[in-house]
Amino acid sequence: MPQRTPPTPLPAFSRDPAAGEPLHRQLYTAVREAILAGRLAPGARLPSTRACATDLGLSRSTAVQAFDQLLAEGYIETRAGTGAFVCHDLPDAALLSVAGDRRPAAGGTGKRSLSERGRRLVQTSGVSRSQNVSKRAPRPFRPVTPALDAFPTALWARLGGRRLRGLSPELLDAGEPAGYRPLREAIAAHLNAARGLHCDPEQVLIVGGSQQGLDLAGRVLLDLGDEIWMEEPGYFGAADALRSAGARLVPVPVDGEGLDVLAGCARSAGARLAYVTPSAQFPLGVTMSLARRLALLDWARRADSWIVEDDFGSEFRFGGRPLAALQGLDPAGRVIYVGSFSRVLFPALRLGYLVLPPDLVAPFLDVRIVSGRFSPLLEQAILADFIAGGHFMRHLRRMRRLYAARQAALVAAVRRWGDGVLSVRAQPAGMHLIGWLPDGSDDRSAARRAEAAGVETLPLSACTLERATPPGLLLGYAAFTSAEIEAGVRTLCDALEGSDRR
Ligand SMILES: Cc1ncc(COP(=O)(O)O)c(C=O)c1O
Repeated sequence: MPQRTPPTPLPAFSRDPAAGEPLHRQLYTAVREAILAGRLAPGARLPSTRACATDLGLSRSTAVQAFDQLLAEGYIETRAGTGAFVCHDLPDAALLSVAGDRRPAAGGTGKRSLSERGRRLVQTSGVSRSQNVSKRAPRPFRPVTPALDAFPTALWARLGGRRLRGLSPELLDAGEPAGYRPLREAIAAHLNAARGLHCDPEQVLIVGGSQQGLDLAGRVLLDLGDEIWMEEPGYFGAADALRSAGARLVPVPVDGEGLDVLAGCARSAGARLAYVTPSAQFPLGVTMSLARRLALLDWARRADSWIVEDDFGSEFRFGGRPLAALQGLDPAGRVIYVGSFSRVLFPALRLGYLVLPPDLVAPFLDVRIVSGRFSPLLEQAILADFIAGGHFMRHLRRMRRLYAARQAALVAAVRRWGDGVLSVRAQPAGMHLIGWLPDGSDDRSAARRAEAAGVETLPLSACTLERATPPGLLLGYAAFTSAEIEAGVRTLCDALEGSDRR
């Protein structure tokens, strides 16, 4: 029985003051490498964080941070009341089997030969990695996964089959770096009509998902050490991309009207760039007010700064029309608009786009050519047909109805089961809600208890740079049926309460 298994000692761990990495990161790396090298076997029980801190002469919070990271990335799991164990299903298992015996040197960090830039690149928050390496099918309440079961796969296959059967030399040859022209035309027409943008197809650059767009923006627009405003709490993927470009992230609080522009000015009036999600703030879901939008544009104009508008959440609005995008309100050409098909269609498509101010088109194109050249043409052509045939708008309308119903199911289930442990507030948009925990709770440990009970959530504090938010869990509802949502909420609330209320 797991309770009786004595814990396996952690690997010998020597601090490396020259590593330039915080201690929790060094401990995380040492344990991860021991797991990957098989020195900590699948199923092995780990010492408690308290014992680990005492044995290794570290503070408890250092051990907790390292364990949290390992848990978030799927290397370890917790079981209620019995502690932490090495997972059987490791995120890097596939990688290792390909790499054969080329395992990291024992005790090494595996980063000694990296450049300064390379070291910066691998300093991601870890949340992105944990959200992207999971091999499990989505379980309630994985955030940001769309309703894959409701995607019109037969129609997509028909459009794809038609393109494959009539495969033209045009689709076999190298594509335009800016992207397949009919797709850029379809995107520009959609954004101008539905999102209030003012753009022509020349300003649209097709990229491999918005993550590549953010990466490009960071590399083209930022110098090492440039300060940038990040929403707090905010989107970890953007933070990772812009941090890896060498930027210094300045957290700017978000309130009921979106990013607090005055607070941003107080913290860093001359910031080089602001990253915002105005249509449905990630992760809180707030819509940025018109007054704030105008204030932000005004700041960018006066400070000669850029605004990266990530419009990821714009399409799934259930109540009324969304406010027009910032890009359409900006005569000064300060806004770089980022969009993605990951949520509106499916993540594996890996297509997104930037809408650039005219004078940025040429430099972005040059960097795009160096970095990946162009996105796969066949997928772009199928997507262009999907949009031109009216299927895109039809799919959005269907998903809006479905997600509104799924959100209502989540709200109803939390009202039924959440008394005293969990509460939610309905939102007019989005694919997840924040499940608020009682004041003073620790949302990371709540997420661990949920995980041990089989429920997947992301703690709100994982989306912060300074961890100042009230405790909450991101509860994605879009990918799950009402019955799954009801059962998931029950299990979650039981786990949070620490009791079985059957
Ligand atoms: C605000 C926001 N932008 C962008 C993305 C990711 O988009 P992509 O898959 O296109 O990189 C996400 C995914 O969670 C997101 O939450």
